[in-house]
Amino acid sequence: MNHAERLEIAPAARIQGAVRVPGDKSISHRLAMIGAIAEGTTVIHNFAASQDCQSTLECLEQLRTPILHTGSTVLVEGRGLEGFEVPRRQLNAGNSGTTARLLSGILAGFPFESTLVGDDSLSRRPMKRIIDPLRRFGAIVEARDDNYLPLTIRGGPLSAISFTMPTASAQVKSAVLLAGLQAAGVSKVHEPVATRNHTEIALSEFGAHIHFDAGEIKVEGRKPLQGKEFAVPGDLSSAAFLIAAALCVPDSKLRLTGVGLNPTRSGFLSLLQQTGARILISQLAPTGGEPIGEITVETSELSGMDIGGSWIPNVIDEIPILAILGTRTRQGIRIHDAAELRKKESDRIRAVATNLQRLGAQVQEFPDGLLIPGNQTLRGGTVDSFGDHRIAMAFSVAGLIAVEPVTIQDPSCVRISFPGFFEWLDEVVYRD
Ligand code: S3P
Repeated sequence: MNHAERLEIAPAARIQGAVRVPGDKSISHRLAMIGAIAEGTTVIHNFAASQDCQSTLECLEQLRTPILHTGSTVLVEGRGLEGFEVPRRQLNAGNSGTTARLLSGILAGFPFESTLVGDDSLSRRPMKRIIDPLRRFGAIVEARDDNYLPLTIRGGPLSAISFTMPTASAQVKSAVLLAGLQAAGVSKVHEPVATRNHTEIALSEFGAHIHFDAGEIKVEGRKPLQGKEFAVPGDLSSAAFLIAAALCVPDSKLRLTGVGLNPTRSGFLSLLQQTGARILISQLAPTGGEPIGEITVETSELSGMDIGGSWIPNVIDEIPILAILGTRTRQGIRIHDAAELRKKESDRIRAVATNLQRLGAQVQEFPDGLLIPGNQTLRGGTVDSFGDHRIAMAFSVAGLIAVEPVTIQDPSCVRISFPGFFEWLDEVVYRD
């Protein structure tokens, strides 16, 4: 398939077969970063082949962490809690919010100056949300307009803080926990709305003195971490695209293996099951503290969905694909309380609304969400990825379920989370 400037996705006749789901991006970032400040070697199998995770590895190398990347396995030679050295260049987080925000939390504890930069999209995304807590720990942080990259951190001896999350963001929570690892005393994070807890799980696996349950996390600083071997679960946020396609395309039955089923991430599956989706989940033994399993999905009739409140952080990355699915439900879909979507790699509320309209769908846009009536047929047309990987992948699924082909402008941004995405679709999508 040609991944040039435009890519045409033709409607699918059926989706059938079995696929393995590639490694989770959020977990891969965290294992590499925490491995770098642990003692000894960390081995990470099924490391996400995403450009974002590559940005994390390159930043860690800049900080003089030896890394060996062969196939999908990454070996990180941990430098310990005090081992990073002054980077020779600026640290480039590329398109990756997770790299920029989590690494800032780590750098807050190191007594040298480093500067984080990113691409145009990342340079428009807010950083004040991590700057404020990191300053409270005692780090010196400067940023453009006090909110945007480039961001310069001069770390040093930190003192523990208690922090109540003003926005539900796993990246902010993680930055605070990672800074807390290096602070004197016990840092506390109070999280009114649950967000993905991969950092907490990974830290426990590395032997951190961490305690977490029901909205409260405590981590004791200055305790050494121990490197170990991990297998990264498959990324449910990537699996979501094929699950959605298999639900809508007639005569489909698809098995997805090795999928991460962490309850702070699996709202997509529970919401769909509530609307009548035929999704069977079989849980397997957890790996590295993370639940995993197998999912079987079949073509289904879906009722409708109203998604807001505490569901939002759980399904934040799946909202573009849920919006497309919404057109095929009986009662449509309403998404609210999701203003954070405007601060992602693109303004995802605007991007989804614009592209759905280009495919002839009715859609109403609100400051914090979308209203999409059900029983709509998507016609073909040309849509824009807006340089956002999840928009490109979501509208590829629109191409599979539309009546005419959908052409995606700038499809290559899928490399940000999933370089092999189009080949992966080809494994199970049949057109006759
Ligand atoms: C992520 C957290 C979420 C999510 C992003 C990855 C993470 O962002 O949208 O794709 O790995 O922690 P926020 O924490 O900004 O909500």
